[in-house]
Amino acid sequence: MNNDPQSSSTISLADRYMFQTYGRFPVTLVRGEGCRVWDEEGREYLDFVGGIAVCALGHSSPLVTRVLKEQSEKLVHVSNLYYTKPQMELARLLVENSFADRVFFCNSGAEANEAAIKLARRYSNEKFGQDRNVIISMDNSFHGRTMATLSATGQTKIKIGYDPLLGGFRFVPFNDINALEKALDDSVFAVMLEPIQGEGGVVCPGPSYLKEVRDMCKKRDALIIFDEVQVGMGRTGRLFAYEHYGVMPDIMTLAKALGNGLPVGAMLSTEELAKAFGPGSHATTFGGTPLVTAVSHAVLKNILEDGQLEHCREIGDYFKKGLENLSRKHALIKEVRGLGLILGAELDQPGGPIVDACLEQGLLINCAHENVLRFLPPLIVGKKEIDFLLGTLDNIFEKIHVEN
Ligand SMILES: Cc1ncc(COP(=O)(O)O)c(C=O)c1O
Repeated sequence: MNNDPQSSSTISLADRYMFQTYGRFPVTLVRGEGCRVWDEEGREYLDFVGGIAVCALGHSSPLVTRVLKEQSEKLVHVSNLYYTKPQMELARLLVENSFADRVFFCNSGAEANEAAIKLARRYSNEKFGQDRNVIISMDNSFHGRTMATLSATGQTKIKIGYDPLLGGFRFVPFNDINALEKALDDSVFAVMLEPIQGEGGVVCPGPSYLKEVRDMCKKRDALIIFDEVQVGMGRTGRLFAYEHYGVMPDIMTLAKALGNGLPVGAMLSTEELAKAFGPGSHATTFGGTPLVTAVSHAVLKNILEDGQLEHCREIGDYFKKGLENLSRKHALIKEVRGLGLILGAELDQPGGPIVDACLEQGLLINCAHENVLRFLPPLIVGKKEIDFLLGTLDNIFEKIHVEN
């Protein structure tokens, strides 16, 4: 028996029993509602992280709770040996509202990207043979932490120690069409990219970049894979980010907000590509359980029908203008970027201390790429919450200015 009074506190349990893979903030969250969460001491926080672009409808969404309860009383899991209605209804809704013809369900963003890489490779192997075996990916990209998706990721720091990685990836700078043209030779069968780079620091493409990528791929008979794990499901004010740029991919991946917190991922493609995945070619035990797909279906329907996209565009503009005003006042903000409710403020200094200061003020924000404050609130966020965030940041920046 351990008599240490601290030994059962959540943080000491984590210190004692968990792999130390996460740099966590010293807060134990126990409850959430809308855009707010509470810690075990009852302290309230305004949440502009949203579970990293997951909780689109907010915490404890009554809709999610209701569907979760109803479906959990009917059927949670049976395996993909059988048909279940919620899975097929979600597939239909995704297909009816996207470029795609078919859907494969899995459990996470990395798994959706694994499926995308496998599908593209199998299709290309069948069509062109094994010499065409390179996927071009982007510097600064993020596609997940499994071996294949890490290999596809353009960030050296998270690859350290994992060699040999999966071969067949080539990297070019994002937003540089000339670099892509040089790299896109006969060995390339696909180009994989996030329409807006999230983990890379909220980096948007130039207005014509994605169209130029599409044209170049078409000319070379290469596929386009869009990773919309972070920016899909309404985050940018359109259901999918590609809609802003008028460019449709051959394959797209989703996860994060699709389940509003339930683990779910999806890989979507055109009919032509989907043919390369016949029975037995790919599978996962938990992919698309009736429980998660019933919830995801309700979430997607809500995003499509409840004015969420319009709200996201309007409130996103309001938020972005507020950040731009702050940047005019505080020289430490170098640039404000983003679309809808994925917004970033690039600083001329590390963002960590500002994230910590926000936490002290009851505000959860996150820092991507060391110096980009990233904001991913629930899509239901309102002006009052945004004003609180802008006021808090204003005070923190003012203090930094005075101290310097
Ligand atoms: C664009 C993108 N792709 C893939 C992933 C990996 O998703 P997951 O953590 O669900 O595996 C992420 C996660 O942040 C992401 O932002």
